[in-house]
Amino acid sequence: MLAVRNLAVRYGPIQAVRDLTLEVRPGEIVALIGANGAGKTSAVKAIAGLLPHTGTVSLGGQPLPRRAEYALRAGLALVPEGRGILGQMTVAENLRMGGYARRDRAGLEAAMEEQMRRFPILEQRRDKLAGLLSGGEQQMLAIGRALLSQPRLLVLDEPSLGLAPIMAARIFALVEELRATGVAILLVEQKARQVLKIADRAYVLETGTLRASGTASELAARGLLADAFLGTVTQAPPPA
Ligand SMILES: Nc1ncnc2c1ncn2[C@@H]1O[C@H](COP(=O)(O)OP(=O)(O)OP(=O)(O)O)[C@@H](O)[C@H]1O
Ligand SMILES: [Mg+2]
Repeated sequence: MLAVRNLAVRYGPIQAVRDLTLEVRPGEIVALIGANGAGKTSAVKAIAGLLPHTGTVSLGGQPLPRRAEYALRAGLALVPEGRGILGQMTVAENLRMGGYARRDRAGLEAAMEEQMRRFPILEQRRDKLAGLLSGGEQQMLAIGRALLSQPRLLVLDEPSLGLAPIMAARIFALVEELRATGVAILLVEQKARQVLKIADRAYVLETGTLRASGTASELAARGLLADAFLGTVTQAPPPA
């Protein structure tokens, strides 16, 4: 499904990601875990074609073009860190944007209704400004929007960030439900313990470098290792 080889991202003198190799197989939830500043967002933005990088990224055996709109057409949808919801537009307008690359009008309308059914709160608020939704509801909107492009791979960048624990748990449960629909998932998270409960496999990034990888149960069992890399994790402030 997704194969990333020797990915590197730098911002001038700052090397944010170095030599990252990872894969996501069909039907998997794969977690990319790391503390603040570990390079998680840089890695997934590069994978989605949003950042200059070196190394190769392929989806379904085909090299992924290095532009976001092409990556989207190839079947990769990114739910960005901070959700990327346009607060001054309605819920329905935000949702519809996820289908901008689709040519099938009827299919788009049907997909809109499907996401409204999946997230009843979006149906209830469909003509309200998206900025009035709670953080968790905005996350659902962002996920629904991403699903409108019918991705083969859904990439979620810290979907639980800034959410109350009960809402974070709902988002994790939702991600598990989505795997059952057949979409492969790359899930970026700092909350290692929680994410290892739903992930099949995980990669641990530390200051831009891969420090560990394996099945979620192996990594959870290597608790000492997880503590060594994740013990200093602090909660980032919610995005402004
Ligand atoms: N636009 C930028 N310009 C310069 N440096 C950047 C930029 N974006 C990120 N960095 C740096 O790159 C490194 C990795 O940042 P990145 O945002 O990828 O980490 P992250 O793991 O997503 O962190 P967080 O958990 O806080 O979201 C950090 O040192 C960060 O300061
Ligand atoms: Mg980040």
